[in-house]
Amino acid sequence: MLIRNGLVVLASGSVYRDIRTQAEQIIEIGEQLVPVADEPVLDATGLLVLPGMIDSHVHFRDPGGTHKEDFLSGTQAALAGGVTTVLDMPNTNPPTDSREHLEEKLAQIAPKAVVDYGLYFGATDTNIEEAADLADRVAAMKLYMGSSTGSLLVTEFPPIYQHFSTFPHQKALVVHAEDEQSLKYFGAQGSKIHNQARPPLSAQIALSRALAIAEKTGRVLHIAHTTTERELELIYEARQKGVRVTCEVTPLHLFLTEEAQQRLGNYGKVNPPLRSSRDREALWRHFDIIDTIGTDHAPHTREEKDQPYEKAPSGMTGVQTMLPLLLNAASEGRLTVEAIVQRCVVNPIRIFALANKGALEIGKDADIVLVNPQEEYEITNESILSKCGWTPFAGTRIKGKVKQVFVRGELSYDDGKILVQPGSGRQVRYR
Ligand code: DOR
Ligand code: ZN
Repeated sequence: MLIRNGLVVLASGSVYRDIRTQAEQIIEIGEQLVPVADEPVLDATGLLVLPGMIDSHVHFRDPGGTHKEDFLSGTQAALAGGVTTVLDMPNTNPPTDSREHLEEKLAQIAPKAVVDYGLYFGATDTNIEEAADLADRVAAMKLYMGSSTGSLLVTEFPPIYQHFSTFPHQKALVVHAEDEQSLKYFGAQGSKIHNQARPPLSAQIALSRALAIAEKTGRVLHIAHTTTERELELIYEARQKGVRVTCEVTPLHLFLTEEAQQRLGNYGKVNPPLRSSRDREALWRHFDIIDTIGTDHAPHTREEKDQPYEKAPSGMTGVQTMLPLLLNAASEGRLTVEAIVQRCVVNPIRIFALANKGALEIGKDADIVLVNPQEEYEITNESILSKCGWTPFAGTRIKGKVKQVFVRGELSYDDGKILVQPGSGRQVRYR
């Protein structure tokens, strides 16, 4: 297939107009490529040609929470959002914390997926050897230092230290850095303001601990959902000392603050919480420190969210709205499209060692998103394909619309319609 006359965006900043795919891969990028016999040609005049986004942080609830999401609905939402690869978190039920649970989960999701996927393995107090043995089968290990949705939690020094030491040092180890003891303490004070019940101090304590252990063990570390200025300072300092640490932010924390939690109630409850506008601004100011943007797509039903604050689960949808929100921010001059590609494609590929993925690279999978940068629309709850059917961004005006999405060269989403069958998605390969 030849996609012609678009604006092909490469992370390097170079721009070309044409891109050619064959079988499942990108084979040529250039100017004025001439169609060969019988080659399908798509005219992309006026459109951006982007690599498929890689959302390295989703919770698709499969198995165990399929009343609110499953791997079909989750990956359909991904497609509609220009996301062609997802890395799915292990806090399912049962958690992805053993060889058996990993195999079961892979077997259960394979017939459902419509985008490509990789899985996280979940750290527990006792699965240190098993995690290391399975490292080459997963995108990363996730270690929860503070409790959130699900049962995964590791708070004691010995298992944290042993996981850091034993899990292959070049393989991503992703931590949820909130400190359990302090969460318990502040949670018991009775505040219904989530940013007080789980304050920045809890993040600071856990992150400091993780960085110290990473420094000692010499391993790579990736920090999920950093939310505060203090965390970015700690990460920056650690890097100066040679600690190999990378970090993620979510669109939730880039675009919403604790005021939104007052407006949205439990629908704005997420771990770590929406922070002050000061912290939010710091994320933008120190954007160069941030390696990846991942959504932390964590659907919960309205019924679950409508419970009292203490009982309502934390998390919001995000996989369908990430690229639109970032494109809109780009249209306002807050960041460049290249910066989006860097954080949503190039860096996730590097950090999670994805072998067959690239940012529009010859010989890599032809995962391509066509975007109309001029088209405007409003995000609505009705448009959300996630089973839970709501987004904290309902009512937000967006400039920049995802028009068509190709996964490994196959047109999979076309102007609102999903064109592929369940099971078309494949597990990614790791380097
Ligand atoms: O708000 C959150 N929701 N934070 C997490 O760490 C987990 C997630 C979920 O799975 O619901
Ligand atoms: Zn998460």
